Amino acid sequence: MRSYSLLASAKINLYLEIIGDRLDGYHELAMVLQSIDLVDRIDLRAIGTDTIRVRCDHPQVPPDKNNLAYRAADLLAKQFPDALAKYGGVEIAIHKQIPVAAGLAGGSANAAAVLVGMDLLWQLGLTQSELQELGGTLGSDVPFCIAGGTALATGRGDQLSPMPDCGPLYVVLAKFRNLSISTAWSYQTYRQQFSSSYCAPEDLDCRRERLHSGPMVGAIAQKDRSKIGQLLHNDLEKVALPVYPQVLQLREAFDSAGVLGTMMSGSGPTVFALAESQERAEEVQERVKSAIASPDLDFWVTKFSNTGIRIVSDGN
Ligand code: C5P
Repeated sequence: MRSYSLLASAKINLYLEIIGDRLDGYHELAMVLQSIDLVDRIDLRAIGTDTIRVRCDHPQVPPDKNNLAYRAADLLAKQFPDALAKYGGVEIAIHKQIPVAAGLAGGSANAAAVLVGMDLLWQLGLTQSELQELGGTLGSDVPFCIAGGTALATGRGDQLSPMPDCGPLYVVLAKFRNLSISTAWSYQTYRQQFSSSYCAPEDLDCRRERLHSGPMVGAIAQKDRSKIGQLLHNDLEKVALPVYPQVLQLREAFDSAGVLGTMMSGSGPTVFALAESQERAEEVQERVKSAIASPDLDFWVTKFSNTGIRIVSDGN
């Protein structure tokens, strides 16, 4: 096969708790991650030369080493030089629907699709866990983006325990178009403000005591949608809400629209709300749209998804 098209799902964080420091300088986390049906399409095509080419229809996405999708292809080229010599380089075309720098793991999802697609294109025969291990070296969210669905993520976010599908739940997402928040800034600021309460890397008792993800895990196992809504949590809101009034405004507007629950996703600035039906989600969208009435506000209505990467065509 000389080309593949894949769909890569965005994720939201139903739960994000910062436990403490890690020896590698990252934060020890407990998260519940959920794939949603908002996808980018990634087209991969074998090209005659030994180069990696990236193009994207979104002006903010760089075509070079700053793009996680490029780095994913580069990683495989370095790990598997024989495959590069045999099959040649690859052209990666990214068709963006997932907003960029939004807390929805769009870049990680693109890298995940490149790993899955190039494994097929180069006939590497890697297992999902081998792909996830490679993905983990590119970014903390990449292993989850490969697996998709619902998962408890610990460590720096890359240690995954799959969780049961919690049934159909609808999601409204809103983001101010020109607002982005750097993930590194969020964690750094959190460290500056809250590191006195961090668990030390070797203090396992402290880590066990600090974990509060149990009730959310239970609510998902019971498919209790109102409880899932009530238990949404994200420690990074503590640094984002005071600095970005637009995020706070969205949180409050969703709250007033009578949703199952609302939260900032990841390091933001996207805010999501959960609703029990598509109709209800669309109603919430309209309410928040008219409450805020800003031409700079983008919305998406979507639903939970149980897949990370889907192969939609394997052309020649
Ligand atoms: O892993 P990723 O490249 O997505 O992380 C982006 C940044 O977020 C890191 O450079 C780090 O500053 C912060 N981070 C962290 N702890 C984590 C995950 C991310 O401090 N568990």
